[in-house]
Amino acid sequence: FPLKPYNTFGMDVKAKLFARFTTVQELQELLQMPEVQQEPKLILGGGSNLLLTQDYEGIVLQNAIKGIEVVQETEQHILVKAGGAEVWHEFVLYTLQQNLGGVENLSLIPGSVGAAPLQNIGAYGVELKDVFHELEAVQIESGELHTFDSDACKFGYRESVFKNELKGQYIVTHVTFRLHKEHKLNTSYGAIQTTLEEMQVQQPSIKDVSAAVCHIRQSKLPNPKEIGNAGSFFKNPEIPLAQYQALQQQFPEIPSYPVSDTHVKVPAGWLIEQCGWKGKVIQNYGVHKNQALVLVNYGGASGEHIRQLAYDIIGSVEDKFGISLSPEVNII
Ligand code: EPU
Repeated sequence: FPLKPYNTFGMDVKAKLFARFTTVQELQELLQMPEVQQEPKLILGGGSNLLLTQDYEGIVLQNAIKGIEVVQETEQHILVKAGGAEVWHEFVLYTLQQNLGGVENLSLIPGSVGAAPLQNIGAYGVELKDVFHELEAVQIESGELHTFDSDACKFGYRESVFKNELKGQYIVTHVTFRLHKEHKLNTSYGAIQTTLEEMQVQQPSIKDVSAAVCHIRQSKLPNPKEIGNAGSFFKNPEIPLAQYQALQQQFPEIPSYPVSDTHVKVPAGWLIEQCGWKGKVIQNYGVHKNQALVLVNYGGASGEHIRQLAYDIIGSVEDKFGISLSPEVNII
């Protein structure tokens, strides 16, 4: 079964088996079938945070559970429950239409609602965990449907329990968000402020913030429909303050974001650019010209090529800065 249409890197690989489910019950029935039980399983959302390096010798399960509904309303909040297969940005558009605040900064992030909590998607000062209420997920082994609140998800920077202790054990079927009737805009990110000024907006609405975010993303990040990519390939590394201060002696321009009293985050894009990788083209793949954190497939590159490129980048950042980058993308 060809997987090329199902991964935004556009890797031309196949899966031995493929199944799609549109309800929780269908998924539970699938998981009871012996021919499904005995296979390794890969759960597919939007395929936008995935690097496939070879054919998949197992079953790919594609979530096709759709639907968005209001489940509860209080004075300040609305709880909205969405099916895992809803396209993330379409969900954001729904919230804008309903005038509900909270996810406007997360506009235009590729992928599905069901995949969003796995890596606690984040951008421009907001993370999914800030609006998360709970999720429902089917345990692969038992077929049981379990509910996870925010604590149970153990969210961190591009992290959750589903990337760690519970990796490969659950399939997220629905996510419920707590959205705000009264909006609290987050325009702390410099580029949002500048863009809103350029748009000549005085009293920004959530729609304006979303428009600003879309504008920034479109100017920096390649559209996966045009150029194969999976967004940021690496996480921004967190390093001890002492190490950062030592690096500052040698590289006075090195940027950072505060994390705690003892640690800072350094933008991986800067480190990669300093090593001379930005805009590099190797045959039909390379490093994006506007954002060094994004690896791109111009068409026909293999997952192995991209993986090798990632290793080469990790090696040169390690040599120059003594910082070891870790991939943010799921490499299969
Ligand atoms: N920078 C460079 N060169 C580059 C890219 C970045 O020097 O080629 C430096 C600049 O100093 C720039 C700073 O890095 O000011 C920050 O760059 P940017 O605002 O593009 O953000 P980022 O830290 O590179 C993170 C997320 C993005 C998210 C943006 C905006 C991670 C791994 N990435 O990137 O998320 O959109 O912030 O909030 O945390 C994603 O996860 O796929 C993703 C795109």
